[in-house]
Amino acid sequence: MNRKSVSDLRDMKGRQKLAMLTVYDFPHAQILDTCGLDILFVGDTLGEVELGFDRTSSVTMEMMLHHLGAVHRAVSHTHLLSDMPFGSYATPEAALANAQRLLDAGADSVKLEGSHAEVVRHLTSHGIGVMGHVGLQPQTARRYVRQGTKEASAKRILKEAALMDESGCYALVLEYIPFELADRITREISIPTVGIGAGPACDGQVLVLNDMLGLFDEVPRYVKKYARLSEAIAEAGGAFARDVREGAYPSADEGRR
Ligand code: KIV
Repeated sequence: MNRKSVSDLRDMKGRQKLAMLTVYDFPHAQILDTCGLDILFVGDTLGEVELGFDRTSSVTMEMMLHHLGAVHRAVSHTHLLSDMPFGSYATPEAALANAQRLLDAGADSVKLEGSHAEVVRHLTSHGIGVMGHVGLQPQTARRYVRQGTKEASAKRILKEAALMDESGCYALVLEYIPFELADRITREISIPTVGIGAGPACDGQVLVLNDMLGLFDEVPRYVKKYARLSEAIAEAGGAFARDVREGAYPSADEGRR
């Protein structure tokens, strides 16, 4: 299996749907690296679903580098995308320095939220692949609600998507916008759209791993749970506690050899 480059991913538009999942640690990355995903993504949802913060904006460059390093040690077949955390791309120069640190830690490309055309142009002019992200932008959103439901905000998102395309992004995340708007953006821009809560017309889909694995009871409405790991883990933990109390683990044989 060949690790896809930024241009391989861009060329998938209109040919093949793109499948992307977040990942934050070594064991999950090792399992997912051979599953046929196009992109593994160390997202700043790290803060919420792994570190227990309320907001992704609590995530720092040091936290990203720590987790990216662990994922990188496990991944060799899949394109590895890293988020740029809040505050790390405030100016084109800061963005370049921070993106370079993420690439040095193993990322193949980076993603940032919002319509920062100057930053995207600066990064791409230095050969760095950038995925954009419009619609709901968790780093700065006041509430996690569907965006672009009114005419004015739909127009703004459409404009931002076109700007990210023109600025040189190789793909664009569309988060939590009306399906019709995602459909229109997907038809109008030249790069693949990767939807999350944006409906089936997108060129690809991304989900937060911990949500789709069923580690939490509460997940956004658009998530499909592909496993029920919280139940499996609770069952395993309970069985172990029972065995220890009853003297059933370790048995006379376990670990003797
Ligand atoms: O950080 C993240 O996981 C993301 C996805 C929601 C696309 O940006």
